[in-house]
Amino acid sequence: MGRVIAIASQKGGVGKTTTTINLGACLAEGGQKVLIVDVDPQGNASSGLGINGNDQRFGVYEALIGPIDVNQAILPTPMKGLSIMTSGQRLSGAEVELVGMMARETRLRAVITSLREDYDFILVDCPPSLGLLTINALTAADSVLIPLQCEYLALEGLTQLISAIRLVQDHLNSSLRIEGVLLTMFDVRLNLAQQVVDEARKFFSDRVYKTVIPRSVRLGEAPSFGKPIVLYDAHSSGAERYRELAQEVLSHAGVIRAVTASVEAAAPVESGKVGVPQTGTVNSEVYVDQPEYGDQPDEVGQADSLTRPGGSEECIERPSAEVSKH
Ligand SMILES: Nc1ncnc2c1ncn2[C@@H]1O[C@H](COP(=O)(O)OP(=O)(O)O)[C@@H](O)[C@H]1O
Ligand SMILES: [Mg+2]
Repeated sequence: MGRVIAIASQKGGVGKTTTTINLGACLAEGGQKVLIVDVDPQGNASSGLGINGNDQRFGVYEALIGPIDVNQAILPTPMKGLSIMTSGQRLSGAEVELVGMMARETRLRAVITSLREDYDFILVDCPPSLGLLTINALTAADSVLIPLQCEYLALEGLTQLISAIRLVQDHLNSSLRIEGVLLTMFDVRLNLAQQVVDEARKFFSDRVYKTVIPRSVRLGEAPSFGKPIVLYDAHSSGAERYRELAQEVLSHAGVIRAVTASVEAAAPVESGKVGVPQTGTVNSEVYVDQPEYGDQPDEVGQADSLTRPGGSEECIERPSAEVSKH
């Protein structure tokens, strides 16, 4: 049964699409069967894999509005083992059309549920907003991966994203977890970039991936050739880092599967309720779950202080905490 990871942030240009494409390609390179679902009407995940979503007869829009056989909306990509459900401009209409429809927040979940058996990973590339398309993605997902760009005001806006995640947990998808926070576009020449890394590790501790994605010309160029970095420049630093990220994601998935199996073996429970350990190291290492937020109001409070007007700079300039080695 595939794991569904939404790559989300309401900020544009933080590396959501780059991460979706390249994490997907690196998981596929390692033998996983991966589907990317491009939920951004800009269709950048589609074009970054060499496909113009506007030219396709079927894509995410048709799958959402239906009824179609969703397999018709899935295309192969230049990367073996990596498929995509494309999007194009017509998906921007869906945000409005969905408002008046039955089950408007859960339509993507219905689409993805029917595909879970066919893939090891389903990665959902979200648009830069917290509108209905992102809510659909969070409702369909097991977990959310949050890219954080290593630049000024990087942590600003996280409170809104965390609030949206909590709302979805409360009303639509109680098993949604935070998969991890990924630091992107790290520029070794900027002191500020290191400060952002330190701040992120201080606030999110081990939920921040050890892998940090560097700012790299090759990563920026690859989409214009319609290729993931592992096909465009297999030995570049960007390719190596995204391979490392894939390993981290796989090891988290391995832990989750092992825990799920042992929970099932110990005490079979209703389907949909397994794989959500509430205690133990696995919980603290891998998940941010709702009870944890409830139990630790400070955590959200800290993130809050980061978003107060004028607060972010202050936070970033505080003496840095110990940096985890990566
Ligand atoms: N690590 C990186 N190094 C250099 N350029 C990058 C990197 N990650 C993303 N980019 C470029 O930055 C821009 C925004 O990235 P993108 O992944 O599209 O962000 P988002 O999907 O969050 O809007 C794109 O032009 C992309 O090619
Ligand atoms: Mg994008």
